[in-house]
Parts: sequence; structure tokens; C-alpha cells
Amino acid sequence: MSIKVRSISSQRVNQIAPSGIRKFFDLLASMEGVISLGVGEPDFTTPWHIREAAIYSLEKGYTMYTSNSGMPELRRELSRYLKDSYNLSYDPDTELLITVGVSEALDLATRAILDPGDEVIMPDPCYVSYSPCVILAGGIPIMVPTNEENNFELNTSDIEARVTSKTKAILIGYPSNPTGAVMSREKLLRLAEVARRHQLLVISDEIYARLVYGVKHTCFATLPGMKESTIFLGGFSKAYAMTGWRIGYAAASKEIIAAMTKIHQYTIMCAPTMAQVAAIEALKSGEPSVLEMVEDYNRRRLVMVKGLKDIGLPCFEPKGAFYAFPPIKVSGMTSEEFAEKLLMEEKVAVVPGTAFGQCGEGYIRCCYATSLAEIEEALLRMGRFVKKHKK
Ligand SMILES: Cc1ncc(COP(=O)(O)O)c(C=O)c1O
Repeated sequence: MSIKVRSISSQRVNQIAPSGIRKFFDLLASMEGVISLGVGEPDFTTPWHIREAAIYSLEKGYTMYTSNSGMPELRRELSRYLKDSYNLSYDPDTELLITVGVSEALDLATRAILDPGDEVIMPDPCYVSYSPCVILAGGIPIMVPTNEENNFELNTSDIEARVTSKTKAILIGYPSNPTGAVMSREKLLRLAEVARRHQLLVISDEIYARLVYGVKHTCFATLPGMKESTIFLGGFSKAYAMTGWRIGYAAASKEIIAAMTKIHQYTIMCAPTMAQVAAIEALKSGEPSVLEMVEDYNRRRLVMVKGLKDIGLPCFEPKGAFYAFPPIKVSGMTSEEFAEKLLMEEKVAVVPGTAFGQCGEGYIRCCYATSLAEIEEALLRMGRFVKKHKK
């Protein structure tokens, strides 16, 4: 006999929609000959020496739980890396937490700081998880529109206009997925000023920090007075081509890390041990591989941006991550229609801009972390498609 339940899913879960990205991938998984500019992950395999370190760890029998916060050696290496890269000092024992990717770190950060009804300000468009994470933590996402004319950077006056007595934090992710935008240091300084004035926390997702082209990444926690109020999230997925290892971290004040660790210890216990060993190796000697991959992404970025322009989809120049975000308004279609038709007619998978927020309408996200040959073939097909449907 089946049991009658009032309602299966909670109101919080009912409030969020399934990821708009997944829908496309389910569709294309059933098709042959598709070129995917869809999934946002490196096409490189994790560098061999990193894989080898993990394999060796298994041979040595590293198969048990680690400390909840992560292996002490990994936290020490991470602390050194953050000091060397940004001149930031984080105590490996109390101010760092190793997580299951930035995904878990985002979830922990929002759950650790939000009470029901607290508001979190974030850019639109932005990474697909930001708004759902806030909702699942009981908070309310407050979107700040950004646009191509402003290089998809957050405007401080737009943020300030949305601050209320309920605002708890600003959530930013630069370099940006999906636009490839990088916020200038000047703009970030102004954002820091707003955060300070209104005593807001800042969650800064810097997973793409290493993937910048011709510009310098500004780490938000390095801005004057910001270290104590910033939850700095970073990871290994993108820079070291380690998406499948599921390893990331949070760096923040002792109080915030303690709060995040409380949730982490009951829900996750610890990040996978083998992946933690791989991350130690990545931090110790992964730098040459990172630089090589960045150089390669840059070559593809230039081909993608020029190619899009040549086929009549000129886009603003992405300076970070591995995405181009061209407008498709010339087609007269919505982003969803464009992506769906392009997949059906030309077998090229892109993600509709609306998967990242309302301000993504009229845009598509093209990931260029794929081979040059595939990028060129995709551009050829897209060119044919645009010519056919141009209004
Ligand atoms: C902006 C951004 N943040 C976080 C993540 C999640 O990364 P991870 O693999 O570390 O969970 C992604 C993955 O695409 C991302 O694009």
C-alpha cells in the first residue's frame, strides 16, 4: 500500500528549476555528430604527474577519511599558494576548508551565513548555481542586471539601489561564467566600498582566476579591508583540468570557516582523499601545465571571437574563463529557440543565455575549451545557420 504524502518536494525545491544546461546535454547525448560548445569544462585530461600522484596514493593505501577540513599538507600547500599568488595569509588550521569542488563551497557558504529571508545580491547573468544555492539556503537572490555595453561588469550604483535591511551578502563570480567578463580593479574597489558601507559579506567565486588573457585577475580578498568579510572560493576544476576530481576550497575568517565546517562535517565529512593528494601535486608542480593550457585557451579564444564576428555575431571581447557570449538578436529568435534550432539543423550545441538569468535573453554561451578544429567547424555551421535565419 502506498503512503500518502502531503507533497513530495519541499517548497524550497519547488522554487528552483532544473539547470537549463542539463536539458541540452540530455538532448545532445542522444544525437550523433554533434560539436559541443556547451559543457563548461576543459577538454584537456588532467596533467599526467597529477594523475600519477593520485594513483601512487592508492598504491600506498591512502584510502581512508581525512580530517574534515582536508589533509593538513594540502591546507599548508594551499596557504603557501595563496600567499605566493596574492600575498594573502590564511591560517591552514582555521581559515581554510577543502571542499567537494567550488560547488560544495558555494552551498556551504550560503547555508552558513543565511537566515530565512536574507537577501543576496548577484549579477544577472551569472553561473547557474548561484541563485538556487541561495534559495536552498532559505535566502532570496536579488539580481542586478548587467549588460554588454558595460562589459557585463557590476555597477555599484545598481547594487546600492538594491541594498535593504535584509541584505546579507554580495555574490560575485569574476572572471564570469557565462560572459567571460573580468571586473576591473577600479570597479571592484567601488564594490568593496559598498560592501563596507553596508556591512555586507562578499562571496567571491574565483574558480576562473587563472584563466585570464591580457589582464590581471584581482582577488577580491586583497582589496583594502576586505579579507575579513570575504568568503573566497577557489578550485582545481578549471585551471588544472580536474573537473571530475571534485576538489575545491574556501578561504575566509576563522568564524566563517568554522560555520561552514559544521555543515561540511555532517554532510560530506571530507573531500575524496585521492583527489586531495592530486590537489597537493597540482599546487606543488602544476604551474607549467596551467600556463600551457592558458596559452592554448587564448589561441582558441581569439579564433572564436574573430570567427563569431565574421559570421555576423560580433561579441564583446571575453577576457577570462573560456566562454564567448555573443548576441543572437539578428536571428529574431529567443536564445532557447536559437540553441534548439542550431542543434537540430546544424548539430552544434551551445547554451541559451537565459540558462544564466533573464539578462541572458538574446545571447548564447559558446565554450571554446574544445579543439581548434572543432571550433572552426562549429563556426562554419553556425555561419550557415545565421545566414539562413538572419532577419
Ligand atoms: C563560475 C563557476 N563556479 C563554480 C563552478 C563549479 O565548479 P566545481 O567543479 O569546482 O564544483 C563552476 C563550474 O562550471 C563555475 O563555472
